Amino acid sequence: MKVGVLTGGGDCPGLNAVIRAVVRAAYQKKWEVVGFRHGWKGIVKNEQMKLDLSAVSGVLPRGGTILGTSRTNPYKDPKMLESLKQTFKDEKLDALVAIGGEDTLGVANKLAQEGLPVVGVPKTIDNDLNATDYTFGFDTAVNIATECIDRLHTTAESHDRVMVTEIMGRHAGWITLHAGLAGGADFILLPEFAVSVDEVCDVIRKRHQRGKTFSIVAVSEGAKVEGLGEVLQTQEKDAFGHVRLGGIGQTLSKIIEEKTGFETRYTVLGHIQRGGSPTAFDRVLGTRFGVKAIELVEQKKWGYMVSLKGVDITSVKIQDAVGQLKVVSKELYDMARIFFG
Ligand code: F6P
Repeated sequence: MKVGVLTGGGDCPGLNAVIRAVVRAAYQKKWEVVGFRHGWKGIVKNEQMKLDLSAVSGVLPRGGTILGTSRTNPYKDPKMLESLKQTFKDEKLDALVAIGGEDTLGVANKLAQEGLPVVGVPKTIDNDLNATDYTFGFDTAVNIATECIDRLHTTAESHDRVMVTEIMGRHAGWITLHAGLAGGADFILLPEFAVSVDEVCDVIRKRHQRGKTFSIVAVSEGAKVEGLGEVLQTQEKDAFGHVRLGGIGQTLSKIIEEKTGFETRYTVLGHIQRGGSPTAFDRVLGTRFGVKAIELVEQKKWGYMVSLKGVDITSVKIQDAVGQLKVVSKELYDMARIFFG
C-alpha cells in the first residue's frame, strides 16, 4: 500500500502528532507513506517528501506541520483538479489521508464522492467541526489564551484598566468561551450571540461600583456586536471565500473607554494561539486520530473521517462534519453569563 498525507488550512498544534502516528501505524503494516507539501497544492503540483520513521522522529512536541500547509482549493480550477487526479495515478496512491478543517475536509469529501480513496482527520483550533466532540489544537489554543488572560489580569489590576482581548474564532466562539471561563473574564463576546456595547459597559460599571478597579473582556474576532458590522483587516478573500477578520478588540476598547471613562487597552492574541508545542491532550488526541486513520484506510472506508465521541475514537462520514459548523449553544453561553461582572 502507498498512502499519501497532507495538511491543509490554518496550521494547528498536534498536526505533527497525527503525521507521526500515520507513519508509525503504516510502518507496522509495511506500507509506504508520502507527504504532500502545503496542502492540496502539493498534490496538485506533486510536491512531496518521503515520510519514513526518521522523517517523523522527534516531531511529537513540535507545533506547526512538517509538511507545510496552504489554503488551496483545487475545485476553483478544473486544471488543478485534473493535475490532482493525475498525481493519484502517477504515484499509484492507494489512499490519501487529508488532515484539515471545514475547507480541507470539504474538498476531501468531494474527492471521495468522485470515487477517490480519501479519508479525513479533523483539525482546527476553533473546534467548530461537526461530528466530533473535539478537534486537536483546540486544547492548546485554549490554554495559551487562558494564560494570556491570566497575564492581562495582573497588568489590568496594577493600572486600574479595562483590558479587551481579541481571540480567534470567525464563526464559532469556542476558544473565547473556554478561555474566558477558565481565565475568569468579566464579559465574553461571541459570534453566536449579538450583544450591545451598552450591556458590556453596564457590567463593567457595576463591577467598579462594587469596588473592582479593573475588568477583562474576552472577544472573538468574529463576535456580533449590535451596531458594529464585521470588523475586517482587509476585504480580500481566500480561496474558500473567507475574509480576514481582525480589529474588533481595538474598536470595542475605544467605545468602552468613551462610554465608561475607564482607561482601556486591547490585545490581539492572533497567531500566538496557533503556534508552539501542543498540550499533552492534543498530542494524545492527534496520535489516536492518526492511528485510526490508518485503520480506516485498511477498511477502505473512503469518505469517512476519524472522530472523538466521548472518550472513544470512532469514524463518521466526512459529509456529516462539513457544511454546517458546530457553534456554542445558548445554554452554554447563558451559563457563562453567570460569571459576567
Ligand atoms: O484556524 C482557523 C483560524 O484560526 C480562524 O480562527 C482565523 O480566523 C483564521 O484561522 C486565521 O488564519 P490565517 O491568518 O492563517 O488566514
